[in-house]
Amino acid sequence: MNRILFVCLGNICRSPMAEGVFHHVAMNRGLIPPVEVDSAGTGSWHIGDPPDSRAQHAAATRGVDISAQQARQIHVRDFEVFDLIVAMDRSNVENLQSLAPQGLHGKIRLFLEFAPVAGALEVPDPYYGGEAGFDHALDLIEAAAHGLAEYIEAEVRS
Ligand code: 4NP
Repeated sequence: MNRILFVCLGNICRSPMAEGVFHHVAMNRGLIPPVEVDSAGTGSWHIGDPPDSRAQHAAATRGVDISAQQARQIHVRDFEVFDLIVAMDRSNVENLQSLAPQGLHGKIRLFLEFAPVAGALEVPDPYYGGEAGFDHALDLIEAAAHGLAEYIEAEVRS
């Protein structure tokens, strides 16, 4: 398993941060197998847009540059291409469940399942709030990124 797609609603806040942070964590750990990461939104409003400037700034303060990303919408083909489809909240999961081709629903996971210490299962949508929401989202995303990396490493060993 090495292709991972992070999914949120708009693909301009949470999933771009998750893509950037997870890629950063995987590179720093020298994750084996190497991962390919991408992100997408269930919605179409922001197709082609860069990440929200607040998300870019919050990620940059943690050493992660997400400025080159461009929003896109999830496509049915993504369920074939990616090994794991990692959602930020339950409503993303519901949208993904209704899109997934038969037999591929098992690829859909909640990101925070990989961060049991976080005490939450959803990354709250920071879009309509202030900068603190982006920082909180990043705390959860960083915890889950390490948890997901550990999960992948354990899969290889088993
Ligand atoms: P995201 O945040 O799902 O974390 O990218 C949102 C961005 C935009 C919108 C909603 C959520 N929107 O409605 O435009």
